[in-house]
Amino acid sequence: MSILLTGATGFLGCRILRELLSEEGDEPVLVLGRGSGQQLRARVEAAVTWLDAPRLPEGALDRLRFLSGDITVPGLGLSAEDRARATDGLTELWHSAALLSLEGDPVPLHTSNVLGTRHVLEVADQAPEAHVLHISTAYVAGRRLTGHVLEDDLSEEHGFQTSYEESKYTAERLVRAWARRNRRRVTILRPGLLVTDRPVPEHLPGQPLDVLLRLIDNGMRARAARGHGLTRYLRGTGLRGESLHVRVQADPDGEGNLVPAEYAARAMVRAARAEPQAAVRTLHVTHPHNVSAGTVTAALRARYPGISVDLVPEVSCPTSLEALVSQQGAGVLGFGAQHRTYDRSNLLRAVGDLPDPEPVDHLYLARAFGAVEAPLPA
Ligand SMILES: NC(=O)c1ccc[n+]([C@@H]2O[C@H](COP(=O)([O-])OP(=O)(O)OC[C@H]3O[C@@H](n4cnc5c(N)ncnc54)[C@H](OP(=O)(O)O)[C@@H]3O)[C@@H](O)[C@H]2O)c1
Repeated sequence: MSILLTGATGFLGCRILRELLSEEGDEPVLVLGRGSGQQLRARVEAAVTWLDAPRLPEGALDRLRFLSGDITVPGLGLSAEDRARATDGLTELWHSAALLSLEGDPVPLHTSNVLGTRHVLEVADQAPEAHVLHISTAYVAGRRLTGHVLEDDLSEEHGFQTSYEESKYTAERLVRAWARRNRRRVTILRPGLLVTDRPVPEHLPGQPLDVLLRLIDNGMRARAARGHGLTRYLRGTGLRGESLHVRVQADPDGEGNLVPAEYAARAMVRAARAEPQAAVRTLHVTHPHNVSAGTVTAALRARYPGISVDLVPEVSCPTSLEALVSQQGAGVLGFGAQHRTYDRSNLLRAVGDLPDPEPVDHLYLARAFGAVEAPLPA
């Protein structure tokens, strides 16, 4: 018996791995990823041991095996011998690896997320007993902005905000069709936007919201370097109550679903252990409450006391900073432009008595944004 996981060097993947290793048992956990076995081991162990929960039983890391591979390559780039080693006695195959570029070119997204999933399924063909767990996203709902999305809903009728969403939608279709055709047991897990309020060191897998912060930091620094005197707004020092107003084109009443990554990983592994109600099941691993755009801007204010972000439906005559934010931040901002909610019935059935995640409020987000003054909960 063994478990195979792709994407273990990722922000979610390393948390799934930590949950898997926290379980009693001695079956090997095979980690497939890029780079040499040694590099992979170093990256995975650094990510897993930096996390402080859940507790790992003694010797848990000895269960790890490392396979150098690439999901974009047929056969995952494994030799026939390694492929046999990966599939022999396999009971679970977790596919978490993906490319998460929000503004990106559709071609690499298709290659990684669609062809990559196809290659993983081809390997799963060689492990007929394995339960396949495919990590999708709640954002396969695309441009559907309103209503209550059911866990079995999967439609392209509203279109997509980004090529990333479309690639994940197409991958999910592929997984469902493969499961039906081959009568395989599959769990599709759809998390909301993953966050953590534990500041992650730079060399470890960071969270998607970091993109937003980098955008603001880099935009301000680039302008400050040209003599605009903006660094004090970034640092919030010597401002005497002044603030820099930045208008961002976004729905001021919009919402997004942000879910703590630690909860998501725990819920996923719990769900994997639950008796399936159907051969193919889809679970919204989402937060029960959406986060409003206003909560996000309040948290940004805690991180950048000198900057006031105003969400407006349209930015007329944008400053160069405003133009940069709207151009490069469109992907991230799109995640907060919805009013839809997510059904969690299948999830709740599968995770049993697992408590719901903590609230993602402005204090949680301020910690996620690295605002020093935001206190941790007791
Ligand atoms: N993060 C979110 O907010 C979020 C929300 C909803 C759904 N999801 C889904 O959750 C899953 C995990 O996301 P994450 O947050 O862990 O992403 P991440 O931090 O960007 O990690 C992506 C992982 O995929 C691996 N990967 C990418 N291309 C690969 C390739 N060609 N071959 C082998 N491995 C490859 C990466 O390996 P390297 O380290 O070598 O790059 C890394 O381990 C994805 O399926 C994503 O679509 C994420």
